[in-house]
Amino acid sequence: MRFSAMLAIPLLCSIFVSSCSHNTAPSLYQQLGGADGIAAITDGLLREIEQDKRIVHHFADTDIDRFRTLLAEQLCQLSGGPCVYSGGTMQESHTGFNISLADYDALVEGLIKVMQRQQISISAQNQLLALLAPMYKDISYR
Ligand code: HEM
Repeated sequence: MRFSAMLAIPLLCSIFVSSCSHNTAPSLYQQLGGADGIAAITDGLLREIEQDKRIVHHFADTDIDRFRTLLAEQLCQLSGGPCVYSGGTMQESHTGFNISLADYDALVEGLIKVMQRQQISISAQNQLLALLAPMYKDISYR
């Protein structure tokens, strides 16, 4: 019994390569640098927003510490990290701010700059952007 299990596990591993941890490619979370990498991306993005006259006015009344915590949580969960996002839905959090598609693009531009600066691979950048892209519907009004 034990012998056949020892044979079966490596066999299953070679069949279902992606389900065996020693063969998996690094998760997006890992490629973003894990918790430290995501904290740095979040802080970098906050600095970009602060310096971006096109969009900074939207954040005039925002509790920045809360925003930082929730954005980091969200990026962590989205990228497959060990976090549970505890904030509001994108729709409820952004309703009433009159965020345009141009505003959305401006924020994404800042995010790309930050990831570029942190030497995140283009592939990982694109994976994160692809996860964020569908959210524009809930965030911007057009
Ligand atoms: C990739 C796109 C975006 C993501 C992932 C995102 C994520 C978030 C998160 C996680 C929160 C916190 C939610 C909560 O308070 O429960 C938040 C809040 C907020 N977001 Fe976004 N956001 C995005 C785009 C934008 C854009 C383009 C703007 C404006 C230019 C914006 C403006 C705001 C503001 C002002 C708040 C704070 C709302 C408040 O003070 O209650 N967001 N966002």
